[in-house]
Amino acid sequence: MGKTIVIASGKGGTGKTMFSANLGVTLAGNGHKVVLVDMDTGLRNLDLYLGLENNVVYDVSDVLNGVCRIKQALIKDKRFPGMFFMAASPKPDDGEITPLHVKVLCDKLRAVFDYVIIDAPAGLDDGLAIALGGADEVLLVITPEFSSIRDCETVTQTLAGYGIKDIHYVLNKVNVKLMKSGLAPSLRDFPKEITGRIIGMVQFDENIHISTNMGVPVVSMGDTYIRKNFRAIAARVEEL
Ligand SMILES: Nc1ncnc2c1ncn2[C@@H]1O[C@H](COP(=O)(O)OP(=O)(O)OP(=O)(O)O)[C@@H](O)[C@H]1O
Ligand SMILES: [Mg+2]
Repeated sequence: MGKTIVIASGKGGTGKTMFSANLGVTLAGNGHKVVLVDMDTGLRNLDLYLGLENNVVYDVSDVLNGVCRIKQALIKDKRFPGMFFMAASPKPDDGEITPLHVKVLCDKLRAVFDYVIIDAPAGLDDGLAIALGGADEVLLVITPEFSSIRDCETVTQTLAGYGIKDIHYVLNKVNVKLMKSGLAPSLRDFPKEITGRIIGMVQFDENIHISTNMGVPVVSMGDTYIRKNFRAIAARVEEL
């Protein structure tokens, strides 16, 4: 039986979708069967970051509303053996989807895939609760900004309210120079409960930004330090 990992954050734009795509490709590269599910209904981006936007026919809402079968909404990413993708609906209010619907979908996917990676919407509202429906693990993507630290504490409390306490964190958009010079918060500025549970850091790198615009996950763009970094993060995810 596989595992469902939800990638979430309080603040928007922290890098959830970029992280989901690259974690998925890295885990697939390690021989796992992976499905990336975009749950950012109405504001989907994962299809673009994967360069699969022209392959989308059916989406998660079609599956959950009974318009199509799971198989029909699964897009095989031919570049990465073992990797599949399911798009979010482009419409913000597409049907009456509840966390229970998502749990049932995740249970079915976990029976076939080693990892079900859910790209959640930013924020604390219903979209997050729905995306968390089938969560086995939650990774919060945070950035070295005071606003992100504050939002992350709030999200952590909200998740605790849903009974999810075992959260891990990924620190993205790290700029060591700014952190060392005191122009961005350093690890000392984060609460210990967060720093103790960081499973990886990703540098701020314009190649990552370029890759999301090109629709090519950065880890597939050569043997860079970013790929090595994601390999280390994937190894920790495999241990969760
Ligand atoms: N480590 C990084 N270095 C440089 N740019 C990055 C990095 N991580 C993400 N970005 C850029 O930041 C922007 C936001 O990233 P992304 O869309 O993954 O965030 P998100 O958390 O999914 O946003 P949203 O909350 O809107 O869903 C994108 O333009 C992406 O290319
Ligand atoms: Mg996103």
